[in-house]
Amino acid sequence: MTTITAIAPDVFSICTFVEQADLQFRQFLILDDEPLLYHTGTRRMFERVRDAVGEVIDPKSLRWIAFSHFEADECGALNYWLQEAPAQAACSANGALVSVADFAFGKVRELGDGERFSIGSHRLRFLATPHLPHGWDAGHLYDETSGILFCSDLLHQVGDVAATTTESCVAPMRAMLESSRDTRADWYVPWTPQTRARLERLAALQPRLCATMHGSAYVGDGAAELRALATMLEEVYGAGQRDA
Ligand SMILES: [Fe+2]
Repeated sequence: MTTITAIAPDVFSICTFVEQADLQFRQFLILDDEPLLYHTGTRRMFERVRDAVGEVIDPKSLRWIAFSHFEADECGALNYWLQEAPAQAACSANGALVSVADFAFGKVRELGDGERFSIGSHRLRFLATPHLPHGWDAGHLYDETSGILFCSDLLHQVGDVAATTTESCVAPMRAMLESSRDTRADWYVPWTPQTRARLERLAALQPRLCATMHGSAYVGDGAAELRALATMLEEVYGAGQRDA
């Protein structure tokens, strides 16, 4: 079942719970003059996500399809969306270079590090964050108007949880990382020499809401949450903690 829930004025969270994986996959819709969808969901989820968007607006009215990095749950349905609506794909410059400029059946908008753009009343800012959460092409989108950081795989939680929470998501993510040791999901969010600085840069935005793809969006002091996440990741994966 796929549901759509308002998490802030004009911002919706679309959720599909995949029971076999014990994992939610969330996309975010920002209503504005040029509506934006952040994450497409996988190719196989397209119809369900489109129908959920359709509960709020005509899916054909989307003008932006944005995502953090090139991965099936972030952008697997990108080309279906580009065929559905006259939208542009928006991703990092690295993402466009490595995958999206060739992959996309439509216009690709490269977002530079720190670039601001408007979709109407919402002013958005893109930050390039290579290898955070993972992938050379990774970036984060921040909605300056609503104070929402779309944080992709950061603050990942398992289970069929509520759309939002005021409880910190760092401990649930730590439990997931530790239970993934020596599995194929090990090093899901790697610790690199730049990880703390990149998380500090996101924390400096002082988000009021951190909207993860997997689990509840954290409502509260986003800066403290992201700094706690950095400390946790260093404890789990930092120098001397793990063999490479
Ligand atoms: Fe990912």
